[in-house]
Amino acid sequence: MASLVGESSELVTTGLGVHCGRAMIKVGVIGYGYWGPNIVRNFHGQAHTRVEMLCDKNPDALARAKRNYPAIEVTTDPCDILKSPNIDAVAVITPVWTHYDLAKAALEHGKHVFVEKPFASSSAQASELIELAARKNLTIMVDHTFLFTGAVRKIRELNDSGVLGDLYYYDSLRVNLGLFQHDVSVIWDLAPHDLSIMDHLIKGNPEAIVATGQKHLNGVEDVAFMTVYFPNSVIAHINVNWLSPVKIRTTLIGGQKKMLVWNDLVADEKIRVYDRGVNIASGEKVHELLVNYRSGDMWAPQIEQLEALRVELDYFADCIMNSKTPFNDGEAGLRVVRMLEAADCSIKRRGELVRL
Ligand SMILES: NC(=O)c1ccc[n+]([C@@H]2O[C@H](COP(=O)([O-])OP(=O)(O)OC[C@H]3O[C@@H](n4cnc5c(N)ncnc54)[C@H](O)[C@@H]3O)[C@@H](O)[C@H]2O)c1
Repeated sequence: MASLVGESSELVTTGLGVHCGRAMIKVGVIGYGYWGPNIVRNFHGQAHTRVEMLCDKNPDALARAKRNYPAIEVTTDPCDILKSPNIDAVAVITPVWTHYDLAKAALEHGKHVFVEKPFASSSAQASELIELAARKNLTIMVDHTFLFTGAVRKIRELNDSGVLGDLYYYDSLRVNLGLFQHDVSVIWDLAPHDLSIMDHLIKGNPEAIVATGQKHLNGVEDVAFMTVYFPNSVIAHINVNWLSPVKIRTTLIGGQKKMLVWNDLVADEKIRVYDRGVNIASGEKVHELLVNYRSGDMWAPQIEQLEALRVELDYFADCIMNSKTPFNDGEAGLRVVRMLEAADCSIKRRGELVRL
């Protein structure tokens, strides 16, 4: 992970454009609602990408886009992007239920695809898109933005270098008031962040999921709790909620050697690493346990301040130009969708264990 920025700066010096035969990836962005403007701003500000055309079926969104980017062509018809010979890659930044159709059409027209999380509405759809991209030798990247934040990159580094020791648990609280989505539950909206982070950090595939949730206002779960069982006794818990009076983004990660608290809402000391833990040894007598609590120093590692989307979209260009498979590819998107499906299944059965 730490080499991402370095890898992309390598592109600047070599000016490679192996896949597309040029050093500039021309992008068509579909969807300019809440998240789309962030994607456009970052694609447009990169050395190796340029937004060629922008599409939103809502004319008001397009008017906003035109005000911000007078030089970019806009359209209400996604076909204008899909059929343009001038466009190498399509970014799908629309609601979840539209991802499959738009991504499929883009791949069929020979375009690389950057698609929002969650990748698709079902694992069957995700698998079909992966197969289509492989057949056409095209790249799919799923926007698992958090993987590119300084915080997650640092946590991954601490984990990979053995600082945390064997992982015990991942415990996340991701709650706020709204934003209610029309097409998906709070699980499909917020949990992909944690599921993609867990997929990135925890070794081994998840074994089973237990989830509970409740619908209060618009027919989809707005409060939900999810437990994911991993090999080697690693357990994860995610609490997602659109009905919280306050916004909280706090994750605890416990390891055998160190434990950390990641508060994503603070500017400084987002991650605090604690040299705390418990050692248990057997005493002289049978059933006697010697419990030794370790309470050492706390430190807050330096975290890179680069905007995650900038790093991610730079990496997207790098993957296309140099025919690399991104680690947040369609397969990573599929693994997250499988966990979401299992959670839905468990919720329907009021918290029954669902094996993956
Ligand atoms: N990675 C992140 O951190 C993050 C954050 C927010 C949202 N998202 C994801 O981004 C996607 C969009 O979310 P949003 O909050 O921006 O939604 P939104 O409803 O605010 O915006 C979606 C836009 O897409 C347009 N649209 C819908 N269908 C279209 C079509 N067929 N053709 C052209 N335009 C179409 C709509 O008119 C709207 O302007 C979702 O998948 C969401 O999960 C990701």
